[in-house]
Amino acid sequence: MGVVSKSNTAVNLSEQLLKRVEDLKTRFPEGKQKSALLTVLHEVQDENNDWLSIEAMDKVAEMLNILPIEVYEVASFYSMYNQKPVGKYMFEFCRTSCCVTRGAEDLMEYTCNKLGVKEGEVTPDGLFQVKGVECLGACGYAPMLQLGDFYHEFLTPEKMDTLIEDCKAGKVEKISRV
Ligand code: FES
Repeated sequence: MGVVSKSNTAVNLSEQLLKRVEDLKTRFPEGKQKSALLTVLHEVQDENNDWLSIEAMDKVAEMLNILPIEVYEVASFYSMYNQKPVGKYMFEFCRTSCCVTRGAEDLMEYTCNKLGVKEGEVTPDGLFQVKGVECLGACGYAPMLQLGDFYHEFLTPEKMDTLIEDCKAGKVEKISRV
């Protein structure tokens, strides 16, 4: 199991999210509400600065009427769930075969150097983080990265420069779910 960090504040979820969870639960047979877990974790993470504290995961367990350990084991298995605070813009570079043969590792190194961080570190201003992940299913568009809900493809150092500047300017969307 990955590192689980504890936040200092209770998790506060919006009325809209609480209603959405109730709606999701109705889509599954009685007693099978755990099936909504992946979606609920995504939405709770989105409302909590992109990470899942123990309190947030406990709240998810309560809402779905399952054990907290059932939430922890899922949240710690998938790389898209973060169990400690992350940078506002997390560049998740695919580092599997197609992307690597198309220069993903050089591009990650370029990005880390440009931001002055090592892989996994958050920049001092809290804006950026670079992470390597497994194949994201966009192999034909290599090299690529995921930023929030969106893919950025056929990347080059020049495209990374533009993406970083656009993030700094607040021009980059991360969430597509409504
Ligand atoms: Fe990079 Fe599949 S190898 S998206």
